[in-house]
Amino acid sequence: MPENMILLLSKAEIAQKVKSLAAQISRDYAGRDLCLIGILKGAVVFLSDLVRELTIPVQIDFVRVASYGSGTASSGNIQITKDVELDVQNRNVLIVEDIVDSGLTIARFLDHLKQFNPQSVAVCAFLDKTERRQVQVPVDYVGYVVEDAFLVGYGLDFDEKYRQLPEVYKIET
Ligand code: IMP
Ligand code: MG
Repeated sequence: MPENMILLLSKAEIAQKVKSLAAQISRDYAGRDLCLIGILKGAVVFLSDLVRELTIPVQIDFVRVASYGSGTASSGNIQITKDVELDVQNRNVLIVEDIVDSGLTIARFLDHLKQFNPQSVAVCAFLDKTERRQVQVPVDYVGYVVEDAFLVGYGLDFDEKYRQLPEVYKIET
């Protein structure tokens, strides 16, 4: 591991948190129809773990909401480069995200989803950097609220590196 990386969340901590989020979601959506929409690419790892802990049937889809630039902050220039493919009209949607930072990505996607007339929309984020918020967005299920630091691993990248790490690390940039 490069020496500027500090362990923040271990595999065991992550697994326990994912279990408890999945239990909450399974309870809240029991007997209701649910579509999970993961935001590529960061949410892939979290979503994969989450669905395997759910005890209710769900459908899965992915969108890519790209914020251009390879820096460590959202550029605000957010485009949907791969759209929803499931028909979500009159259905319950749970957006699954790795981390909410400025909130711009989620805000943009929530706005985009409206045209499909879902019955309900909620957001589940593994990590939430609440203090960096620029726009208020509802985050209904949160794994951990984290301080303002750049994080990698468990799907999160720095310049496309480190997504595959099973733990979350703080990186000194
Ligand atoms: P937002 O639009 O500023 O809320 O940013 C959301 C996206 O920025 C996330 O889906 C991540 O892809 C990325 N991001 C924000 N903070 C981090 C971080 O600490 N590490 C890696 N990616 C991050
Ligand atoms: Mg992301």
